[in-house]
Amino acid sequence: MAVAREIIASFQSNPSATKVKTAFLATEDASMVKAFRDAFGAEVQITNGGPLTRDLSQVLNTKKEEYDAIILCNVLDDWNLIKRRHHLGDLLKNVLTALKKSGTLVIREDMSRHPITTIPDLTKFFDVFVAQDSEGNGLTFDFYTTKQVEDSLYSKQDHLDLYWILTRAPEIVVYEEKLATFRDFLDKTQYTEDNVRSYEWIFGENFISPGGLDENRKFLQRYGTIKPGAKMLDIGVGIGGGARQAAKEFGLHVLGVDLSTNMIVHAFERNQRDQDCRVKYQISDILVYDFPENEFDYVFSRDAIHHIPDQDLLFAKIYTKGSKLMSDDIKPSKLLKPGGQIVISRYSKGYGKLSPKFLDYVSRRHYNLHNLEEFEGFAKKAGFVNIKMENITPRFKEILLEEREYTIKNKNDFVGRFSEELYNHHLEGWEDKLGYIAEDNHNWHLIYAEKPKSK
Ligand SMILES: C[S@@+](CC[C@H](N)C(=O)[O-])C[C@H]1O[C@@H](n2cnc3c(N)ncnc32)[C@H](O)[C@@H]1O
Repeated sequence: MAVAREIIASFQSNPSATKVKTAFLATEDASMVKAFRDAFGAEVQITNGGPLTRDLSQVLNTKKEEYDAIILCNVLDDWNLIKRRHHLGDLLKNVLTALKKSGTLVIREDMSRHPITTIPDLTKFFDVFVAQDSEGNGLTFDFYTTKQVEDSLYSKQDHLDLYWILTRAPEIVVYEEKLATFRDFLDKTQYTEDNVRSYEWIFGENFISPGGLDENRKFLQRYGTIKPGAKMLDIGVGIGGGARQAAKEFGLHVLGVDLSTNMIVHAFERNQRDQDCRVKYQISDILVYDFPENEFDYVFSRDAIHHIPDQDLLFAKIYTKGSKLMSDDIKPSKLLKPGGQIVISRYSKGYGKLSPKFLDYVSRRHYNLHNLEEFEGFAKKAGFVNIKMENITPRFKEILLEEREYTIKNKNDFVGRFSEELYNHHLEGWEDKLGYIAEDNHNWHLIYAEKPKSK
């Protein structure tokens, strides 16, 4: 039962999780109990919570800070908790109470049996869940990831057998008023369901970035000779266009990571439809998830990293790895393999005087924009070599003009699918961006760079 090993490896990769000595496992499948026992090894004491005759909430209700890990394996559906959110909330509250501080909750469910929208619904529910213990202390989770069970993907072509990993947060931290987390911010502001679908209508099938498929191909070609079968990480993969193209046209095996569940749900759905095992997706913050060492030959990102607050940390993470990123004692050899290459495009700023309107746009979207030299500086500081920077803003302008024309020409179709209000909103946005480019405020930049081969 490889799945138990796979799940354990994922949650043990989390540097903020406690080491597991005691675990509670709820499953109706007896073979799973054995699989987890074997995978954890004899040093972990496992309480077998199933098959249960009583309500799981009641079982956990009596426990306080007892477990390092609680694993709920295909039980939410069996106990009809997916639709009954109130009962699911009761269970999560008892889980939080029963977990030690920084303990891990894993929820595995085969989502192929549910409407696809259940995936973002559940992810949002888990991510912003808050409860109080009996003393009135706030309890919540830190979201770590939602991943596809690879065992099911390869052996059953089931791309929707998923698991969520959350840890009990040390304290409740709110991202900003009415927005609990950064994920919540992305899904409720720029990447609402309507925005995702209508952006795709403008940018082209599977893409939420300027120029869609054809422009993206040019970016992938920047790698030069691509080795089919090699591994790529796509940071901020969105609805999956870049990852799918890298697999289909270049034979790469791609992991697409994105924090927006409104985005990734489309990627998951198309993955299940197309049955392409070369592409996998996960919901994670790229700065939070700790990837295995020497995992990727290529790192790719299309117009996503301007969302990321700490660029030094990001580049150090691509080059090195994980938790104590910038400390001196870390040897640079991790996420990207030695000899690995990166191609990253991003929204940036130019050298014109930044207008109040542009600054307001940047601040509303929480973008972190830098100029070309600064962008190059992050890569240099991390240790990259053979760096090639390109200011592709002139092409950005051409694409914006083409997309604006296409949208105006096909207004009836757009309005029929979405609304007049959204049509006006997007057209105004495109108009504004053309203005920001004219003032050399908004730029579009591309970097190619290599990590030196190890000696
Ligand atoms: C403009 S979209 C681009 C999507 C995709 N690359 C494409 O070309 O269609 C930017 C994406 O970056 C994602 N993103 C932003 N911050 C992120 C983070 N910290 N970790 C992972 N993804 C992130 C957003 O959720 C969004 O899907």
